[in-house]
Amino acid sequence: MCGIVGCILKDDKKDVAPILFDCISKLEYRGYDSIGLATFDDENIHIKKDKGKINEVNEKLDLQDMAGNFGIAHVRWATHGDPSKLNSHPQVDENVEIAVVHNGIIENNTKIKADLEKEGHIFKSDTDTEVIPHLIEKFMDEGFDLEHAVRKTIEVIEGAYAIAVISSREPDKIIATRKDSPLIVGIGEDGYYLASDSPAILKYAKDIIYPERDEIVILDKSGVVVHDEFDNVVNKQIDTINWTPEMAEKEGYDHFMIKEINEQATAVRNTLTQRDNIKNIIDDLGDIDRICFVACGTSYHASLTGKYLLESLAGISTDVILASEFKYSAKTLDDKTLVIFISQSGETADSLKALDIANETSKTLGIVNVAGSSITRRAKYVIQTQAGPEIGVAATKTYVSQLTAIYLFAALLADDNDLLDELYNVPDYIDEVLADFEEVKILSNRYHFAKDFFYLGRGYVYPTALEGALKLKEISYIHGEGYAAGELKHGPLALIDEGIPVVVIIPPGDAYKKTMSNLEEVKSRGASVLAIGGSGDEDLKSKAQDVFYINCDVGELIAPLVYIVPLQLLSYYVTLEKGFDPDKPRNLAKCVTVE
Ligand code: M6R
Repeated sequence: MCGIVGCILKDDKKDVAPILFDCISKLEYRGYDSIGLATFDDENIHIKKDKGKINEVNEKLDLQDMAGNFGIAHVRWATHGDPSKLNSHPQVDENVEIAVVHNGIIENNTKIKADLEKEGHIFKSDTDTEVIPHLIEKFMDEGFDLEHAVRKTIEVIEGAYAIAVISSREPDKIIATRKDSPLIVGIGEDGYYLASDSPAILKYAKDIIYPERDEIVILDKSGVVVHDEFDNVVNKQIDTINWTPEMAEKEGYDHFMIKEINEQATAVRNTLTQRDNIKNIIDDLGDIDRICFVACGTSYHASLTGKYLLESLAGISTDVILASEFKYSAKTLDDKTLVIFISQSGETADSLKALDIANETSKTLGIVNVAGSSITRRAKYVIQTQAGPEIGVAATKTYVSQLTAIYLFAALLADDNDLLDELYNVPDYIDEVLADFEEVKILSNRYHFAKDFFYLGRGYVYPTALEGALKLKEISYIHGEGYAAGELKHGPLALIDEGIPVVVIIPPGDAYKKTMSNLEEVKSRGASVLAIGGSGDEDLKSKAQDVFYINCDVGELIAPLVYIVPLQLLSYYVTLEKGFDPDKPRNLAKCVTVE
């Protein structure tokens, strides 16, 4: 959802452009509609920008060849104005004296633009962002210095923003601020950094500051200063990132997605280390009579599994609400409700809005992958999933890590020691499934021509069906729908036609027989059934066109943690067959920081 970076080097004579380029390249998962850099040298701001993916634009413009020891950069996920050179960031004022990169949406941009046009400002782009350099210009013309012109600007703009600003009128510094969009500040050996997310700066800075809403950050070559709204210096806590730069590299894999699929056993193993933390949270929670999960996308599917676990194991009434719909349920909350926010990024705008609502009445818990993200700072309790950085837009290892945290939470709450013991076997199960990846490749070759796919699951693996379908549609652009297996006959069965692929998730357990009946229903209507079943289930061979066997002893209770793996692989290989880039699906970005 756009990524921004900024950097000022201590050494005046060193050019920042190669570092800016390197940093912004690490944020391509946040937007790939355009890229742009601005540096300052020889009294002027220099800008290179264009629409297109980073490598395409770099080949054309040689983005690393720009003079100047400080600057800002941007990758765009278009919201206002189509992807074009003019709409690319940095956005500037008329005289190119002020350059701004922005992540977020300025909701009152139309009114501001109209007012500024009356005052003689001329706009060139269709972006909401362009009002920002013009407002800063206006306030500098009125006599404010750059910092206070930015301060005045954020008093006028409404919406979400993380912005970084440079100006030739007041060079040698970068001013940044944020509200409802992420921004971190890095303190490195050679300079000071700004970024929307930590993978951008892992190579350059380990010490991190998290600016709060509307604090003003001033970077110059001597250091970083943060001011509050009254111009007081804020003594910010410095945290250390424990991710390594290699974690945000492909490390020999063709794509981040397949690397991350292969890291899932480690992600589960590392997340199991949260057991004591989770136990402490449970002990501290006090009287809870209802749990409410709030999340979006893949995190919503992890939450749905949480409902099955908490209701069946701990007998706690549990709801799962999409974050964007949460406010309509706000009146049902009270101090005995625990609201659990599941999020990979910890920055999803819909979830953050919901968290603010929940914090008013209820206890809140965030299950989040990115340390220091907004949800971790705003929720009362935090469980950090230990998946490491996830760069592929399609969530994979963070999904199984979220599930692991939820399983631990449910098993500890229910005192289910058998389940707790079994969780430690899950990494091995995942690795056993991954070893059979060639079989999924063959299946992908067979199925990639399909226009529609259905995924069926019952009980614990119903959310697995939803997640399998989401994985397929978001990267391969094949229409996929997940259904509770028993629900199909209430309508969607009408869509089942000769040869349509139906993936049936059918682990051994209580739901097995009924799922098998549902398999028969679609098969008798001509569906081409691909069953994902348990090892030794010979029956499946005669019932389904194809079977992928989970060759380890995984019952239905923990099936969600393991049966998702072949579905992720299926999506990945189908996408490759179709010639698309699984890491950069069209229209999507990794972190959705607008509502
Ligand atoms: O960062 P979050 O977990 O809050 O993100 C929620 C969704 O945007 C995310 O899961 C999205 O659905 C993924 N692209 C799915 O692969």
